[in-house]
Amino acid sequence: MNNNYVTNSAILTVDNLSKAFGGVKAVNNLTFSVSQNNIHAIIGPNGAGKSTLFNLITGVITPDEGKIQLLNQDITSLRPDKIAEQGVSRTFQNIRLFPDMTVFETVLIGTYLFTGGKLLPALFRTKNFRNKERQARERIEEILKFVGLWDMRHEYAAKLSYGSQRRVEIARALATNPRLLLLDEPTAGMNQKETKELMNLFTQVSEQGITILIIAHDMHLVNTLSNQITVINFGEKLVEGPPEVIQNHPAVIEAYMGRAEVNA
Ligand SMILES: Nc1ncnc2c1ncn2[C@@H]1O[C@H](COP(=O)(O)OP(=O)(O)OP(=O)(O)O)[C@@H](O)[C@H]1O
Ligand SMILES: [Mg+2]
Repeated sequence: MNNNYVTNSAILTVDNLSKAFGGVKAVNNLTFSVSQNNIHAIIGPNGAGKSTLFNLITGVITPDEGKIQLLNQDITSLRPDKIAEQGVSRTFQNIRLFPDMTVFETVLIGTYLFTGGKLLPALFRTKNFRNKERQARERIEEILKFVGLWDMRHEYAAKLSYGSQRRVEIARALATNPRLLLLDEPTAGMNQKETKELMNLFTQVSEQGITILIIAHDMHLVNTLSNQITVINFGEKLVEGPPEVIQNHPAVIEAYMGRAEVNA
């Protein structure tokens, strides 16, 4: 019984996950879980394996070993579109937007690409497709208003400010109705104002019942937003806990300092 309770409160469970690229163990025997409705942060020095972890969770790459479960369902090695269908969506470390597409088109097309929407009904514009498209358009209107981009819907997404481009990506991710949203360094390169606004947005997303797993280097952001932090280093879990435990943890300080010296 007790066990059941523990498993049910986790939306994502990663078990002994490993992935190597040649000799590099990018993710090494990693185990952790994300509680439902949390904003859970992943931190760690450059090259620690954070983005690789997201690529594994979203099915872009397959693990060498280990298991990934979403709400008790095994999603290890499912195709990316199947994982998206199960309610996992993401934004990328480097913003990925198509040139020559408006904000609205980006989010609309994104929903088809990321959920493996069928192209043939779209081409022939079947009745069923038209109905679905109308619903999709209504949903996108709702999302663009939510992220504050409705007034910019006809502008080319790739020409917007960096902060707005990130919002487009977030809107695209939300359009697939995720239960779990993965954000890979969403505020990197943003100014203070943009960062603050995005942090507010993440809180609002979380209040909608969407669990967030966020990679970030900005400790102010991490400590403000998240109540659980997993620190990884060389693909392994170093420590885990709430901000007050992580902030001054000697192993965390050493991991960052050590790597900084190597980089210097
Ligand atoms: N597709 C790939 N092929 C080969 N090596 C890779 C690949 N992806 C990642 N790596 C390597 O795996 C390690 C972890 O990389 P990853 O991008 O996951 O780190 P990260 O924690 O996201 O770093 P950063 O903070 O710089 O974004 C690095 O040594 C990287 O060079
Ligand atoms: Mg990364």
